[in-house]
Amino acid sequence: MSFRVNSSNSFAAIAAILFLLLLSNKPCEAQLSSTFYDSTCPNALSRIRISIRTAVSRERRMAASLIRLHFHDCFVQGCDASILLDDTPSITSEKNARPNNGSVRGYEVIDAAKSEVEKICPGVVSCADILAVAARDASALVGGPSWTMKLGRRDSTTASRSLAESNLPGFRDSLEILISNFANQGLNARDMVALSGAHTIGQAQCFTFRNRIHSNGTDIDAGFASTRRRRCPPSGQNSNLAPLDLVTPNSFDNNYFKNLIQKKGLLESDQVLFSGGSTDTIVLEYSRNPSTFASDFAAAMVKMGDIQPLTGQDGVIRKICSSVN
Ligand code: HEM
Ligand SMILES: *[C@@H]1O[C@H](CO)[C@@H](O)[C@H](O)[C@H]1NC(C)=O
Ligand SMILES: *[C@@H]1O[C@H](CO)[C@@H](O)[C@H](O)[C@H]1NC(C)=O
Repeated sequence: MSFRVNSSNSFAAIAAILFLLLLSNKPCEAQLSSTFYDSTCPNALSRIRISIRTAVSRERRMAASLIRLHFHDCFVQGCDASILLDDTPSITSEKNARPNNGSVRGYEVIDAAKSEVEKICPGVVSCADILAVAARDASALVGGPSWTMKLGRRDSTTASRSLAESNLPGFRDSLEILISNFANQGLNARDMVALSGAHTIGQAQCFTFRNRIHSNGTDIDAGFASTRRRRCPPSGQNSNLAPLDLVTPNSFDNNYFKNLIQKKGLLESDQVLFSGGSTDTIVLEYSRNPSTFASDFAAAMVKMGDIQPLTGQDGVIRKICSSVN
């Protein structure tokens, strides 16, 4: 057996490889970039920030809702604003998917930010980027970290209610399921724990934590359970709200992790992060070190924002976020 190759053959092989590279759709896959709108819409980011600041000062919970909106977008066919599309004969809206219906909020805030940006640079800034920037600005506005957002995502022309139902994590999921769910999106267990720290702000409805507070289990603080039962009876009152972080529900801090150590996580999916499993050490670390949590959260949000973006010639820039042009 010989490895010597006839030189004209190897030349032909190299030429063929180069030719295939040129032909392929992604000669060097288009990357997101923090300077993406610097020349095409230099004021885009400040316009978005003003819009988000207005909405959050009107209602502080909106910061939580906007961070969640970006998460629920990215986990379903990537960060492509698919979550914003309404039902049409050809689109089955993700808004009606079980994890979103009657629960996800803030659509009108994104629509308003988009219409502000359309006034200064029509047809330039994608709804997917507005979702990502809004989440970042929302975090900073309620005391959370900020970070440099990579931009250049484009918007989908499709949505998938069935993917929303299969991909988004459930509030009764086990630690193993949560870890594998995030792994499916390229996020590791540490990313998952850091991102769950978003539950340091915002509210949840009774039906999401009913089972946990009425289970008489040992994995919940008895006083906490009895307090929560007052506004969340064994049946009915499904949409009564309780704060995900009982200490500071309107500030982004590390109390969420301190609560878990005291068995005061609201959702089962919160408490499983600290209940004798492999993520206990991460929860302990974040509970003791707020700046580690803040920087890990920021890094994980950037990573989440990188999930399968449409770039280059793929997708579109929608004029209105709720419908395809
Ligand atoms: C680990 C798996 C997760 C599960 C099972 C989960 C589940 C939930 C549930 C059930 C609610 C309450 C919804 C309602 O009652 O209407 C909620 C709220 C929230 N989630 Fe998650 N979540 C998870 C991870 C995340 C991540 C990764 C983020 C963002 C990075 C996030 C951000 C939020 C925020 C901010 C709220 C409050 C929203 C508001 O007040 O409008 N969650 N989540
Ligand atoms: C969404 O929620 C509304 C109101 O809670 C309900 O009437 C509707 O049937 C739900 N849609 C789906 C698809 O489950
Ligand atoms: C929990 O305990 C209460 C009071 O002792 C009881 O009424 C309730 O049925 C129990 N719940 C479960 C799920 O066992």
